[in-house]
Amino acid sequence: MMLEKVRRWLRFNLFYLGKPPWDTGITPLELFDFLAASQPGRALDLGCGTGTNLLTMAEYGWDVAGIDLAWLSVWRSRRKLREAGYVGRVINGTVTGDYHFEAPFDFVLDMGCFHGLTQAERHIYRKKLTKRLKHGGTYMIYAHRKTEPDHDHGITDEDLAGFGEIMSLVWREDSGEKRPESSGGRPATWARFQRKK
Ligand SMILES: C[S@@+](CC[C@H](N)C(=O)[O-])C[C@H]1O[C@@H](n2cnc3c(N)ncnc32)[C@H](O)[C@@H]1O
Repeated sequence: MMLEKVRRWLRFNLFYLGKPPWDTGITPLELFDFLAASQPGRALDLGCGTGTNLLTMAEYGWDVAGIDLAWLSVWRSRRKLREAGYVGRVINGTVTGDYHFEAPFDFVLDMGCFHGLTQAERHIYRKKLTKRLKHGGTYMIYAHRKTEPDHDHGITDEDLAGFGEIMSLVWREDSGEKRPESSGGRPATWARFQRKK
């Protein structure tokens, strides 16, 4: 477990020494659709990378916060927000860690973080989500589907059902089917949940 965490930390930090393939600087249409249809509030991006989506959400009037384990991505996120004239809180740490936020969030986004967690971490992540997401708030996830049975990477329908304990599924799209280019050709899922009131 510890070794796995260290390997992940090293892998992502090394990725950000260069330009990781996911770091396109483009916010996906799925997020734009949600932002266009929503009233701004407080948003948290779990595994925020270099802050592309933090910036987009800030531009839509959201008060943003992010967490990422890679220090270089956190540094770039902070710079991206600052240079565009926005204030946001970007934490260098793990999404399963204990961080104090002034208040729970109206919107929690996860694009590509949850699918890399171990089963034990997924359990902790869900518990934290109940503290971090307001009642009535929205949780949106983009994740690769699990394709290799003996490897943790990817999500299953059971993972999605696990969120159902505290939230209701309002939208789901298996993007590998409709827009394969949006997931680098690999099977992936978008889902949006609303926390029960
Ligand atoms: C595939 S990248 C996606 C980044 C960003 N969401 C985007 O769409 O550009 C996954 C991100 O999650 C971060 N990450 C992975 N595991 C994490 C963890 N346990 N806690 C915090 N961040 C994590 C990585 O450092 C990386 O920036």
